[in-house]
Amino acid sequence: MIRIAQPLIGTEEEQAVLDTLRSGRLAQGPRVEEFEQAFAEYVEARHAIAVSSGTSALVVALAAHGIGEGDEVLVPTFTYAATANAVLLVGARPVLVDIRDDDFSIDVAQADAAMTEKTRAILPVHLFGHSCDLTKLRALAERRGLAIIEDACQALGARWDGSKIGSSGTACFSFYATKAITTGEGGMIATDNADVAGLARKLRDQGEGERYRTDILSANHRMTEIAAALGLAQLPKLDGWNERRRSNAAWLSEHLAGVVTPREQTAAYHVYQQYTIRVSEGRRDALRVQLEENDIEAVVYYPRSLHQQPLYQELEIGGSFPIAEQACAEVLSLPVHPGLSDADLEAISTAVNGVMTPAEARRA
Ligand SMILES: Cc1ncc(COP(=O)(O)O)c(C=O)c1O
Repeated sequence: MIRIAQPLIGTEEEQAVLDTLRSGRLAQGPRVEEFEQAFAEYVEARHAIAVSSGTSALVVALAAHGIGEGDEVLVPTFTYAATANAVLLVGARPVLVDIRDDDFSIDVAQADAAMTEKTRAILPVHLFGHSCDLTKLRALAERRGLAIIEDACQALGARWDGSKIGSSGTACFSFYATKAITTGEGGMIATDNADVAGLARKLRDQGEGERYRTDILSANHRMTEIAAALGLAQLPKLDGWNERRRSNAAWLSEHLAGVVTPREQTAAYHVYQQYTIRVSEGRRDALRVQLEENDIEAVVYYPRSLHQQPLYQELEIGGSFPIAEQACAEVLSLPVHPGLSDADLEAISTAVNGVMTPAEARRA
């Protein structure tokens, strides 16, 4: 089976975890600190705060920016539920925005139009490993006096205009098992703001400024030493893996017929957490069957946008988002991870080209 994702665990990771298990220290300690420093250096951030998941990173980062009850946060509707769930979890209200047709990122003009006097922040998503247009978004945020908290859970190593995602502002990352590097479960906040960093450190640990002195309400969002040891062993391999993802993506884009292949904007450095094609409506099921018959795992990220989720409908958080709905009907993610062999890539293109005809390709 050619899987959609595959954690790459080598002897370095095994040894690092074993050493940690034998060290006697399992909860947050020196390895977490070391991982934070290595991560900050990697994304070129002033501060990095390790937490237990990407969702925790978003919750803690939003709270550290002072977002809470009565506030509205702009969120693209085409994303994983965790993005907007984090807004609800800090007591604020997500306001959904449609996406661009070409790279699935938040439509900045529509974000502008969706603002109210309660809007405090924008939570853009660098979906599938491609940065949103941070130039336009930062200009908008500055003009309106808003914070930007980036959901970079799928974009570790990605760049916009030559700068690493996470190198300025506040960005949240995930180390879930399918991500570019993994700690099993884990997350990180990168920020250039010392006050946000200080508050985030408190918020990840029961709101404690010092041991057994609770200043503010929070929960346990700490990372374990075992996770940090894994992360430290994975991080040096990341650039090589991302390059491999990019060359796999380039090969697929050159060889696939009859589908719309992913777009990389000129200012972007896409890290292809997912290689997401678009298949003309009504043809996706036939393609999925063909891939399945050839033992190739392909996944629809995402079959539903947030406004189509029962929870969001119940909370009456919705609107009209035709571009996102079209994306839900057309997207299909194919394997692109660095564990693929040349034969795997061949198998994927043969399967796709066996069903789709060149005439079916439609440029989004
Ligand atoms: C876009 C996006 N946001 C948030 C998350 C949440 O991360 P985690 O699963 O580590 O909580 C993920 C990852 O699953 C994601 O892909």
